[in-house]
Amino acid sequence: MAMMSLAPACRDPEVFPDPDHFVADREPNRHLAFAAGPHRCLGSHLARMELAVAMEEWHRRIPDYRVAENGLGRERGSQISLLTLDLEWDTASTAS
Ligand code: HEM
Repeated sequence: MAMMSLAPACRDPEVFPDPDHFVADREPNRHLAFAAGPHRCLGSHLARMELAVAMEEWHRRIPDYRVAENGLGRERGSQISLLTLDLEWDTASTAS
């Protein structure tokens, strides 16, 4: 039996230029975060909606932020998740 990890496919430089950078409006973006084929994620539409709402609310309250110095945590796991991502922002720029 072979288990294939999907995450590295999303970092293939032949498909995704500059693959280690987060580009929110990357086009084209044929990623495999929700897999593909007959077992493609059944909840992807709900997940996208939830993430859009979370991002909208975050940016409404904290529009201006940055990754803290040395804030990018290590990656791990077959989905290449970040262990930590430290952000910082100026409190004067936040909405109440
Ligand atoms: C950002 C959030 C999510 C990500 C990245 C994600 C990712 C994935 C991936 C990669 C698979 C394929 C797994 C495999 O091939 O073995 C999968 C399958 C699945 N996901 Fe998600 N998922 C997310 C959210 C959700 C949500 C919110 C639901 C349900 C409400 C859901 C339900 C399912 C189900 C039922 C399958 C199995 C489909 C099948 O085997 O036919 N997922 N998901």
